[in-house]
Amino acid sequence: MKYATLLLIGLLLATALLSEAQKQAGKTKNKSKQALLKAEPCSAAKCKLPECRCSDAILPRPKFKGKEHEIPQFVTITFDDAVNAVNYAQYELLFDGLSNPDGCAATGTFFLSHEYTDYVRVNALYNAGHEIALHSVTHGDGTDYWRDADVETIEREFGAQLQMLETFAKVNAKHVQGIRLPFLQISGNNSFEAVKNLGLTYDSSWPTQQHKEPAMWPYTLDYLSIQDCQIGPCPDAALPGVWVNPMVTWTDTEGYSCSMIDACAYPPADDVDALFEWMLENFNRHYKGNRAPFGMYLHAAWFARGRNYFAAFKKFMHHLSTYPDVYMTGVSRMLEYVKKPVLGQPFKSCEKKPNTSCQPVHCNVQKVSTGETRYMSVCDKCPIVYPWLDNPLGQDM
Ligand SMILES: *[C@@H]1O[C@H](CO)[C@@H](O)[C@H](O)[C@H]1NC(C)=O
Ligand SMILES: *[C@@H]1O[C@H](CO)[C@@H](O)[C@H](O)[C@H]1NC(C)=O
Ligand SMILES: *[C@@H]1O[C@H](CO)[C@@H](O)[C@H](O)[C@H]1NC(C)=O
Ligand SMILES: [Zn+2]
Repeated sequence: MKYATLLLIGLLLATALLSEAQKQAGKTKNKSKQALLKAEPCSAAKCKLPECRCSDAILPRPKFKGKEHEIPQFVTITFDDAVNAVNYAQYELLFDGLSNPDGCAATGTFFLSHEYTDYVRVNALYNAGHEIALHSVTHGDGTDYWRDADVETIEREFGAQLQMLETFAKVNAKHVQGIRLPFLQISGNNSFEAVKNLGLTYDSSWPTQQHKEPAMWPYTLDYLSIQDCQIGPCPDAALPGVWVNPMVTWTDTEGYSCSMIDACAYPPADDVDALFEWMLENFNRHYKGNRAPFGMYLHAAWFARGRNYFAAFKKFMHHLSTYPDVYMTGVSRMLEYVKKPVLGQPFKSCEKKPNTSCQPVHCNVQKVSTGETRYMSVCDKCPIVYPWLDNPLGQDM
C-alpha cells in the first residue's frame, strides 16, 4: 500500500517535471517567433512622452498651441549609400564652418551601406560630430528582396553593417541608432521588429504624402499609426518604443510629392536662385506651420545632375544657418528633442564629439563570391578578405 502510494507520487512528480521541461523547451523554441500584438488606436491619455508619442499629434506638446513660432525648427540633412573620397569632399564643403544658434556645429546623418565605402572617411565624419546610421551591407538586389525580407534577414543586414562600422571606422555602437531601408522598401512589421531587436531607436524609411501640411512629427509604434502607406507593406503591430521618423515629402514644381529631393521628377531649372527658392518654399511649409522637423533627404549623386545643384544646396544651408531658431542636426539628436520638447533653445549643451583615433590603412582584398579585388580604406588593420554579409569582419574562414 505504502509502496504503491510512493510509486504513484513518483510517477506524478516525473510527469509534472517532464511537462515542465516540455514547456520550457517550447518557450525557448517559440521565443524568436512570438506573435506581435495588433496595434490599437493611440490616445494621448495612454501614450506619454518621453517613451511614447501618437502619430496624430501635430505639436510637440498640446500647450504649445499658439506658440508655434517659439518651437525650434529642426532640419535633418541625410545622405544615403557609400561614403567615398568624392562625396566626402562635398560633405566637408557643405558643413564647413556652419553652426546652429546655440553655437553647436551643424551636423547631418549618414545612412551607410558597405560596398565602396571608405571607412577612414566615415571615421572623419563621425569625429566631426555627424550621425552615423545604417543602410545595410548588400543594399539588396532590388525592392523584392526588402519587401519579402524576414526579421532575421533585416537583422543580419543591419547588424553586420553595424559591426563593420565599429571595426573599420571605430564608431561606437551605442551612437548608432537608426536605419533607412534601401529603396525605402519596408516589409511590414519586420523592419521595425528588427530595429527593436538590434537595440536601435528609429527607422527613417517611411514617406508620407498626406501629412505634409501640417507636417507629421516623429512618433512611436506603441499604437496604430495614422500615416499613409506609400511603399507597403506597412506595420500594424504594436512595437513599443520604436520611433518612426516619417519622411515628409517635398513638392516639386508640378505639384508631385517626392520622398527624397533626388526623387523629385520636376525640379526647377538648373539655376541657383530657382533651386534656392524652391527649397525655401518647401522649408516654409514647416517653418511657417507646425515646425515639424524638415527633412532634406538625398544622395550625393544629385549634385552631379546640374551645374548649379551643389551651389544651390550650399547656399540654402548657409541661409538656414542665419535663422535664430533653425537647428541642423542628426535625426537622433532631433529625436532627443521630440522626447523632451521645450520652447526656445532645444538643448542645454552641445553633443560631445567623439575623439577616436584612426590609423588609415589601404587594403586590396578579394571579394569571395566573385573573385574580384576590392580596394578598401579602413582604420588600423586590413581584413583578410572583403567583408560581406556572412563574414562582416572579413576574417580568414
Ligand atoms: C509554441 O508555438 C506553437 C504553435 O505556434 C503553440 O502551439 C505552442 O503552444 C507554443 N508553445 C509555447 C510554450 O508557447
Ligand atoms: C503585423 O503584425 C500584426 C499583429 O501580429 C498582424 O496582425 C499583421 O498582419 C502584421 N502585418 C504585416 C504586414 O505583416
Ligand atoms: C583627441 O585625442 C588626441 C589624442 O588621442 C588628443 O591629442 C587631442 O587633444 C584630443 N582632442 C580633443 C578635442 O579632445
Ligand atoms: Zn541606397
